Amino acid sequence: TYAVLGHIVDAPQLDVVRGLDEPSLVVVSGSGEIESVHRAGAADAAASLEASGVTVIRLGQRDFLVPGFIDCHVHASQWAYMGTGIDRPLMADDGFLAKYAFPAESALNAQTAGEVYRAAIDDMLRNGTTTALVWGSARLDASEEYVKAVVERGGPRSLIGKVSMDRHCPEGYVETTAQSLADTEAFVLRTKAANDALGLPAGSPPLVAPAITPRFLPTCTAELLRGLGALAEKHDCFVQSHLSESCDELAFSSSLFPGFRSDAAAFAAFGLLRRPSLMAHCVHLQPGEAELLLQHGCAMAHCPTSNFFFAKEALPVRQMLQLGVKVGLGTDVAGGYSPAMLVSLRHAVLASKTLQFRRAKGCATLRDRHNLSHTDGLHLATQAGADALGFGGSLGSFDAGKRFDAVVWAAEGPNVRCYRGGVAEEPSDLLHKLLTNGDDRNIKAVYIGGRRVV
Ligand code: GUN
Ligand code: FE
Repeated sequence: TYAVLGHIVDAPQLDVVRGLDEPSLVVVSGSGEIESVHRAGAADAAASLEASGVTVIRLGQRDFLVPGFIDCHVHASQWAYMGTGIDRPLMADDGFLAKYAFPAESALNAQTAGEVYRAAIDDMLRNGTTTALVWGSARLDASEEYVKAVVERGGPRSLIGKVSMDRHCPEGYVETTAQSLADTEAFVLRTKAANDALGLPAGSPPLVAPAITPRFLPTCTAELLRGLGALAEKHDCFVQSHLSESCDELAFSSSLFPGFRSDAAAFAAFGLLRRPSLMAHCVHLQPGEAELLLQHGCAMAHCPTSNFFFAKEALPVRQMLQLGVKVGLGTDVAGGYSPAMLVSLRHAVLASKTLQFRRAKGCATLRDRHNLSHTDGLHLATQAGADALGFGGSLGSFDAGKRFDAVVWAAEGPNVRCYRGGVAEEPSDLLHKLLTNGDDRNIKAVYIGGRRVV
């Protein structure tokens, strides 16, 4: 057992930030669970804990303990080319997938994947990501290297998918339907076994868990999708894919699946919209498509960075949340160019402004309907992501009974200097500065399940 005293800040809902007005105390049990949170009288509570022999970590005046970030969409298999190729169209013969994604992923095997995945894992942890919904490649042996690397490193908590695709991808990097289904089932069973072998405390969310991962409609036959839906049901497994991502994707999908009114209708018919499942992008939705996702308990990953390039559209996040759809935030590396959730958070704020510009046309009420502040971004990057992955009760905020997955941010260093000519810096200003100008240099410590991993 230990405790942390200082600015302990979280954003359990849109428009709500806790912990800025006075210091709080969080008590962490030996099993990595948050035992209690004291928001008033924290200093006294800390003193009496110390008197009884409990270690109290006292944060500095410019430090903030914030919940670990939850990246709801990230391709670990594309790490090597992060920051290149995104000015191309997604689908063309010399586009992002054909020129960059497929070659990078198909180069991964049992020998080469470990290095790439360890780099991805280190970058995520270094940037404060403690949980991620991850994409491997379409290779079983390579994807298993990710599972091994996470277990070795102790994080980030990962739902990880071996990608399934049996058409419209290059000859050397396509599966047969039967092989895809067999490898997917093997991956599901082996990943579950890897987590079971860890003997995590009761009630803990997994360190690793499988996700059934059809790449997207264009690369999957109806037979593959039907089979993956059956596997999801059989093993009660999380499902992820890309949905309504870009105009070229939609045009191709609807030509391949003309019987369905939308991407979501097709996924639903194959049993791939289920609770829990999550679809990335969802930016060019047909009328009724969001409602269909809601009805099936399927969440969305908002990937603002890559949406600027491929979708050329922004997700109306507030509207989706008001409808009741769970929305998390994703970096979408390497369709996004940064592994840092802080960058996605900023881009989510900017994307909300583009909706204001285009849709509100000077009407204040409509403007407010779309606006996301930086602390709303913090909510998306933490509690909203936990909710989207189905871990809302155990991750995402500082509340008794949740796991202690947390990051210590310090508003110190050249990127977050504050010059206000002697005027006292408010904690809210320092937090804002970290959210807008902070980066991995400002991270002092990262905890997963109470254990320090950075
Ligand atoms: N759609 C299908 N596959 C991919 C991928 O690897 N990256 C992105 N951004 N979109 C996709
Ligand atoms: Fe993606």
